[in-house]
Amino acid sequence: MQFDTPITIALSKGRIFKQSLPLLAHAGIEAVDDPETSRKLILATNHAQVKLLIIRATDVPTYVQWGAADLGVAGKDVLIEHGGDGLYEPLDLGIARCRMMVAGREGASLTGQRLRIATKYVRSARDHFAARGQQVEIIKLYGSMELAPLVGLSDLIVDLVESGNTLKANGLVPLEHITDISSRLVVNKAAWKTKHGVVMGLIEALREAVQRG
Ligand code: PRP
Repeated sequence: MQFDTPITIALSKGRIFKQSLPLLAHAGIEAVDDPETSRKLILATNHAQVKLLIIRATDVPTYVQWGAADLGVAGKDVLIEHGGDGLYEPLDLGIARCRMMVAGREGASLTGQRLRIATKYVRSARDHFAARGQQVEIIKLYGSMELAPLVGLSDLIVDLVESGNTLKANGLVPLEHITDISSRLVVNKAAWKTKHGVVMGLIEALREAVQRG
């Protein structure tokens, strides 16, 4: 692919970065530094015009929304919480797959009055219970949600489950499936117009990489 205009792609460290690399490689983009060993937040690539921003997963939609990055890779969980303002979401990259679940102690009731739900995913949790007309109290946390039912902070949690090992290790079980999660390509709406050629080329190359598996 030719990059005749500057392109900035926002990614988060860890799983999303690692699983995005082969997809980007298919589009001819290779990072020069490794974010696991480098402290740099702007990574150069083999193309002078293409830069990667390494930021917190929850900040990716914000950088793309405000045009500080043209494109980004963000989990559907993060995108639901962000709301999607200023973004297009043209492609499911099929990476970092997991499930958003309601979880709790074995046999915990899902239907009590004013259940307390601890979660980082406030909007998802609120919408899920509201969809069946159930009033719940949401307690916002920033991580380690599994602890909340163990110490009486909440009745249930809404969290991401991949292997289920974290729930199991804390004596909790998945109780209800909310939605399947995977990472999506997001594009700034202005960049979609002003950098149309390059953005479309990149989307198509990534789509091909996803389809190849
Ligand atoms: C996620 C999630 C669970 C765990 C699920 O946490 O919040 O705690 O992974 O994975 P498992 O089903 O394979 O055990 P993560 O490690 O991403 O950190 P977080 O607590 O900051 O969300």
